[in-house]
Amino acid sequence: VAMTVPLPPVALPRFTLATLPTPLVQARRLERVLGGRLLVKRDDLTGFGAAGNKARQLEYLVGAAVAEQRDVLVTGGGPGSNFCPAAAGAARAAGMECTLVVYGDPPAVLPPNLALARACGARLRFTGAGRDLVDAAIEQEAQRLAAEGRRPVAVPRGGSSPVGAVGFAAAATEVVAQLEALRVEPAVIVVATGSGGTQAGLLAGLAGCGKDWRVVGVSVSRPLPEITSRVWELTQACAAILQRPPPSRDRVELVDARRPEAQARAIRRRRLALETEGLLLDETYTARSFAVAADLLATTDGTVVFWHTGGLVPALTALTGRLPH
Ligand SMILES: Cc1ncc(COP(=O)(O)O)c(C=O)c1O
Repeated sequence: VAMTVPLPPVALPRFTLATLPTPLVQARRLERVLGGRLLVKRDDLTGFGAAGNKARQLEYLVGAAVAEQRDVLVTGGGPGSNFCPAAAGAARAAGMECTLVVYGDPPAVLPPNLALARACGARLRFTGAGRDLVDAAIEQEAQRLAAEGRRPVAVPRGGSSPVGAVGFAAAATEVVAQLEALRVEPAVIVVATGSGGTQAGLLAGLAGCGKDWRVVGVSVSRPLPEITSRVWELTQACAAILQRPPPSRDRVELVDARRPEAQARAIRRRRLALETEGLLLDETYTARSFAVAADLLATTDGTVVFWHTGGLVPALTALTGRLPH
């Protein structure tokens, strides 16, 4: 078994949030239904609030903020963002305030994730504009706070900066060690992709470990050309921080899961995962990535790794009703 290259090699500041490693478990009952060999990487169990995968990015983002003695974390996203409450909680854990810049108009009733973020003490600012302007509005809010004498740090939505992606490069090292212990060389790893930092970190980290494993990102919000170049740029920037060569560009593989048929299939798969294995999936991210993993099980020889990225608040509230706020 090849030795794993430890990542990151450089001493980046890190603020511990997650309980790691998360389990890598064989889904035997799903295997009986779907065929093939299926391992599930349980990043729904990172153990910080309901942060799921985003606890990993936040360890490095908050680590950098603490090292720079920042006092306000400014970030944001959409009304359904899982990253927003994760960032709000992480800021609190590090003794920082948090301002969240959310696209669109203030809703009459706060969606569960925003209600949770506010319950963590975050201030919410609605842009009244579309999604594409959020990152610029985050920067503006940080500048406004700096002009008031605060020490803000601006983090792009989803935590998808090169430093945030380092959290997932570390996750790549983690899964490489787990798979080596099982003596498994996976055929493919499947992960949901929104803003791209998760997939980019994974790709940079695997390349840093000398693994050119296939990773399929399941794009839930952006068209393929846009998300492909975004993931590729983040992968290269993350690899540069790690001082490791990036993978080749053709390792950036994505499928589009934004069509209504994909959504309908995802909802059926979601029920199957819950009824068969007790796995809780959300409609936006993990049910769609799981549906793609299930398809790949049928068409690929070898082990499929489904990376469960969390989404627990919308997953639960879709089943049980909204959280009070
Ligand atoms: C549950 C879940 N899975 C996957 C992702 C995708 O991560 P990224 O935005 O880094 O592509 C997100 C992002 O918010 C998420 O909340």
